[in-house]
Amino acid sequence: MLKIKVPGTSANIGPGFDTLGVAIDIYNEYYIKKLDTNEKKVVWKSNVSSIDNKENYTYTTILKILNKYNKHNIGFELTMGSIDVPISRGLGSSASAIVAGIYAANYLLDDILTLEDIKLLATEFEGHPDNVIPAIIGGLSVSVYEDKKVYTSLINFPKDLEFIVMIPDFKLSTELARKVLPEKYYRKDCVFNISRVALLINSLNNKEYENLRIGINDKIHQNYRKELIKNCNKIFEVSKELGAYGEFISGAGPTLISIIDKKNTDFFHDMKEFLETLEEKWDIKKLQINN
Ligand code: HSE
Repeated sequence: MLKIKVPGTSANIGPGFDTLGVAIDIYNEYYIKKLDTNEKKVVWKSNVSSIDNKENYTYTTILKILNKYNKHNIGFELTMGSIDVPISRGLGSSASAIVAGIYAANYLLDDILTLEDIKLLATEFEGHPDNVIPAIIGGLSVSVYEDKKVYTSLINFPKDLEFIVMIPDFKLSTELARKVLPEKYYRKDCVFNISRVALLINSLNNKEYENLRIGINDKIHQNYRKELIKNCNKIFEVSKELGAYGEFISGAGPTLISIIDKKNTDFFHDMKEFLETLEEKWDIKKLQINN
């Protein structure tokens, strides 16, 4: 039996659409056991309601990989343990399920996969690398998928910063949040994002926090998605007033994240108070980067 623990993630970090991502300290847990028969079982010992096997990405990922290696006769019992990454909230729940499925299948196949294979399969199953790669390697990273290979590089995230994560009580499907994006962009918007990504990464590396508010901006996805997230603009304004270095939509949303200095000790309490004045319910958490 193997226990698999996968962190939640936040993709994009503002301008790094489909490119930047970070692992955060909330986790899903899964257990996989090989059976002597060819039976394929899913057991729910979870804090969330069970879903159909066909919609369970961990289960379907295991099947896809067993089929790929012509080992569909291997039987297994997958146990869904604690599922703490909120579902359809932009915190990498599907990436976590896919990554867990790949590690589970790899266990059933006696460790046939290399780390490079795992990164590639995860990126191809998810469709982009920015959630799955941090779920696999931890930390904050940039990932590029080209010619059947995933290139990754870890980015320094200073210890004096932290994320305040604001999770609403409504879901937003990634499919819908991608549908609202344009097919084509103006050159000026591409330049806008390229310059912000470079400024963001280098300023994190050099601890030039005064640059983060500019470096976190983007013109590729957030303006289109804000319409789908109630009170997004208002929350961003309050975050700025309360002294955050920057704020962004986590992945495809609807979760919002503020980057703050750990010394800004009033932020959490003041933001929580503000969120309580809104019509919809928001959960607020202080999360650290999972290295
Ligand atoms: N980069 C992806 C997006 C993350 O923003 O659509 C969500 O899966």
